[in-house]
Amino acid sequence: MAEAAFDLKGMKVLITGAGRGLGRAAAIYLAECGATVALNDIAASACEEAAAAVRAVGGTAYAYPGDASDRAAVMGMAADFASKAGALDAVVNNAMILRYEPIEKVEPAVLEQMLAVGLMSPFWGAQALLANMDAEKGGAIVNMASPVANRGYPNTSAYSTVKGGIVALTKVMSAELGPRKVRVNAVSPGSVPTPGALGLNDPKVYEQRSKTIPLRRLGHEDDNSQAIAFLLSPAASFINGEILNVDGGIAAAG
Ligand SMILES: NC(=O)c1ccc[n+]([C@@H]2O[C@H](COP(=O)([O-])OP(=O)(O)OC[C@H]3O[C@@H](n4cnc5c(N)ncnc54)[C@H](O)[C@@H]3O)[C@@H](O)[C@H]2O)c1
Repeated sequence: MAEAAFDLKGMKVLITGAGRGLGRAAAIYLAECGATVALNDIAASACEEAAAAVRAVGGTAYAYPGDASDRAAVMGMAADFASKAGALDAVVNNAMILRYEPIEKVEPAVLEQMLAVGLMSPFWGAQALLANMDAEKGGAIVNMASPVANRGYPNTSAYSTVKGGIVALTKVMSAELGPRKVRVNAVSPGSVPTPGALGLNDPKVYEQRSKTIPLRRLGHEDDNSQAIAFLLSPAASFINGEILNVDGGIAAAG
């Protein structure tokens, strides 16, 4: 785990999809930087386990098992978190279903679910922050983009559509909510072999890919966690509408 290099003391942060992978790692790291974290995940036991992992490193964590695509559920968990910990400072919209398949195999129910979890849920995350933050103080949102948003990777139509939407939504929200002191940015991680990502690609694909990434290694969860912590921290107080590539140069190299 990377050293806690950002000062997030006193911040209350809700993270969706925090039961495993990048969300879980970010929750632990943000807590190590001093934030009080609320962890959401649709996988209830993973959600509880991740909250316990935060507590194990001395952090304060609340577990909210539930569906991040359910607006009422997200509003409810944010309100409960605020009632227990105080006004929210930030939301990390991280939940997503990682799934690739040829376009002719994309079924309506799967597409609807991916759009709901990946693209609609950040709307509910933003609404939950606005309803539960201190309006004088403002807040911050970090969305999760991907290098696929800007390139045509075959067989990723649903996933890439979501991530392209995330880039647009991040920019719109940064312009719309900036005057209300809410900064909205995205992290665009590249090739981190999380449980979800390993369901997309064989480990051998990752081994091969690590040789073509300009920095000649795969992404690590810490890389992403530190980028999120930076974007939430006072060090990023004038950064708004940024899509921060954390990918070893994948996006730049094409
Ligand atoms: N791993 C990578 O290389 C990579 C690259 C680019 C972007 N991302 C993005 O980072 C984020 C995290 O990805 P990951 O690699 O950790 O994936 P992951 O599949 O390992 O973790 C995703 C988590 O989201 C949860 N989730 C799914 N549907 C949910 C719902 N309806 N409500 C609440 N939680 C739900 C899952 O249960 C899981 O715990 C995603 O937005 C993903 O698109 C990852």
